[in-house]
Amino acid sequence: MTATPLAKDDLPADWDQGDPETLGAEHASRLAELEAGGSGWAGFYERAARGLAAAPDLAALKERHTRLLGRERGIVTGRLATLGDLTAAERKTTGRALNLIKRWLTELEGERRGALERALEARSASGFDVTLPGRRPWIGHRHVLGQIQDELLDLFHGLGYSVYSSPEVEEEAYNFAKLNFPPDHPARDAHDTYWVEGGHLLRTHTSPGWVRAMEELRPPLKLVFPGRVYRAEQVDASHMDQFHQIDGLCVDRDVSMADLKGTLNMFARSILGREVKTRLIPIYFPFVEPGAQLDVACAICDGTGRITEGATAGRCPVCKGAGWSELLGAGMVHPHVLRAVGYDPEQVTGFAFGMGLERIAMARHGIPEIRLFLENDLRFLEQF
Ligand code: PHE
Repeated sequence: MTATPLAKDDLPADWDQGDPETLGAEHASRLAELEAGGSGWAGFYERAARGLAAAPDLAALKERHTRLLGRERGIVTGRLATLGDLTAAERKTTGRALNLIKRWLTELEGERRGALERALEARSASGFDVTLPGRRPWIGHRHVLGQIQDELLDLFHGLGYSVYSSPEVEEEAYNFAKLNFPPDHPARDAHDTYWVEGGHLLRTHTSPGWVRAMEELRPPLKLVFPGRVYRAEQVDASHMDQFHQIDGLCVDRDVSMADLKGTLNMFARSILGREVKTRLIPIYFPFVEPGAQLDVACAICDGTGRITEGATAGRCPVCKGAGWSELLGAGMVHPHVLRAVGYDPEQVTGFAFGMGLERIAMARHGIPEIRLFLENDLRFLEQF
């Protein structure tokens, strides 16, 4: 084994490239110290030091460090391991030079690694990590009532119905008189009305749309009338002074109550499920004759109004003993209404129905409080 020092050319020439910013003020004195020992290690050290101090990235730094000081194959490590083969005098100068070189190179490696890591961190903190997946912009979705309305309109579209829009600020004649509400009839009081200047009002139901459509169009008609309606109600958990309805109207020759029943049953099954139990009971509305109400059996007590839990039996807490809940109003269009729009009740007949969207949404999703629909609380809205 010889004591010939390692040379500059034992390392790749491109280690000299780059700006060795971390070589520091001591660099010159270190070179001088190696020269002074007369050991001939200065050239090697110069290139090794530059190679570490100017390593372009962490991977290059690691590779260079391993080449110099790696436990297995590092060339400085290799020389240190064979010191014992040298004469005592050689061992002294070479050992001193090698140990200094190892210490300084280790120091330079540490400084360069710190600098490279800090640069990486600064780059990602400034939002420039191109490897991160992009951020999706927050986008909302349809309001739960909008979703139900879309679904119902889709269903009626499949049955051949088109949408007809009519105004929210309505004339009294369309909201009441032409729908066969006699003047001063108590049926008007049931629609607590918001009046607007000039004999106008905020429509209390979507049925005025029928009159407008029939005045404009000739039978056969199959139309649906979605929209917002207003009533001056005392607001509580199940009443709001604005809500949404969809009316339906079918006018043609030979339209009968059987057509109405068929349509309503198919509607109820498709929104509430195949198994749903329904009943049609008579009820008064001025604009239909006969008038009917479609009820669905309470999902909890199956229409009995009572529940048995173990040994105890009692009133069903959900429908409060009624057994049924009202889903919509319906009936055959009153001959007075047909005449008021210029149709001949001897030639055409029609059925109509009207439902509240809030009520359907509440039944479908088990929503206990109608005010939630308008509060714009995302914690509520995001659930649907
Ligand atoms: N317009 C009625 C209401 O709002 C509902 C209804 C529509 C009843 C169609 C019968 C036929 O109360």
